[in-house]
Amino acid sequence: MKKLVAVLLAGVLALGAFAGCGGEKSSVESIKKSGKLVMTTNAAFPPFEYVSDGDKVVGVDADIAQAIADELGVELQIDNVTFDGALTAISTGKADIAAAGITVTEERKQNMDFSDTYATSVQYVITKKGVTVNNIEDLKGKKMGVQMGTTGDLILTDEINGYQDDDGNNVEGVLQGSGAEVIQYKSALEAALDMNNGNLDAVVIDKLPAENIVAVNDNMTCTELVYADGSSTQEEYAIAVQKGNQELLDVINDVLKKLDEEGKIDEFILEHTGAAKVQ
Ligand code: ARG
Repeated sequence: MKKLVAVLLAGVLALGAFAGCGGEKSSVESIKKSGKLVMTTNAAFPPFEYVSDGDKVVGVDADIAQAIADELGVELQIDNVTFDGALTAISTGKADIAAAGITVTEERKQNMDFSDTYATSVQYVITKKGVTVNNIEDLKGKKMGVQMGTTGDLILTDEINGYQDDDGNNVEGVLQGSGAEVIQYKSALEAALDMNNGNLDAVVIDKLPAENIVAVNDNMTCTELVYADGSSTQEEYAIAVQKGNQELLDVINDVLKKLDEEGKIDEFILEHTGAAKVQ
């Protein structure tokens, strides 16, 4: 009996090791073998990803991912999850690539590898018309909605709670002690609609998705979120892959370079900025 238990246990352990203990390994080989490239995203971020025709995920990132799938000679499968979920799907190997207007940050680099960058953005503040936000100091004491886990969420939370700079020194946030509050939503649009309900003063999200929300909500306006000294929240988007998947990154970077040289990425942005407004 003891022996049987030992054998079973050894089997379970071997299986665990094989599966990488809760994580699968994505590689160019595994993608080609399965015949599909799995992209994870959160399709509530137009023009980069949004839902069209009821359930089809389209957008700049889907177009880029399609070009990567074509290069690999496989089908593209798109999994639409929460933004947080998309980031996690990469570290656990549930998806091969995350293409979701993801900003490259030092913290995220601990859990995933990034391709070359393909777009830049800044954070925007959406308010009801008639409210002016000149810079971040005007958000003191305000109730702000964000999409959970996004850079807008991280920036505001740091400014409310204080944070550590690169040298490990404690820095006081500009919104600290002001009564400002961050509320996390599943999407920026959901937050904006809750602002309409009177539950928020402002919503912070990346520039193009902010402009999209304002384009379809007559009573709203948006402006760039800058610091008191006028400095910006400049960020850069890249595609994320599982840590160490250099072979796939090389393919992605080649495709991005080609698309960029052909002016395709600008074309995708223009096309989807228009199309997303009439969704
Ligand atoms: N650029 C921001 C970030 O990386 C927001 C991305 C949100 N993307 C999305 N598909 N919902 O945090």
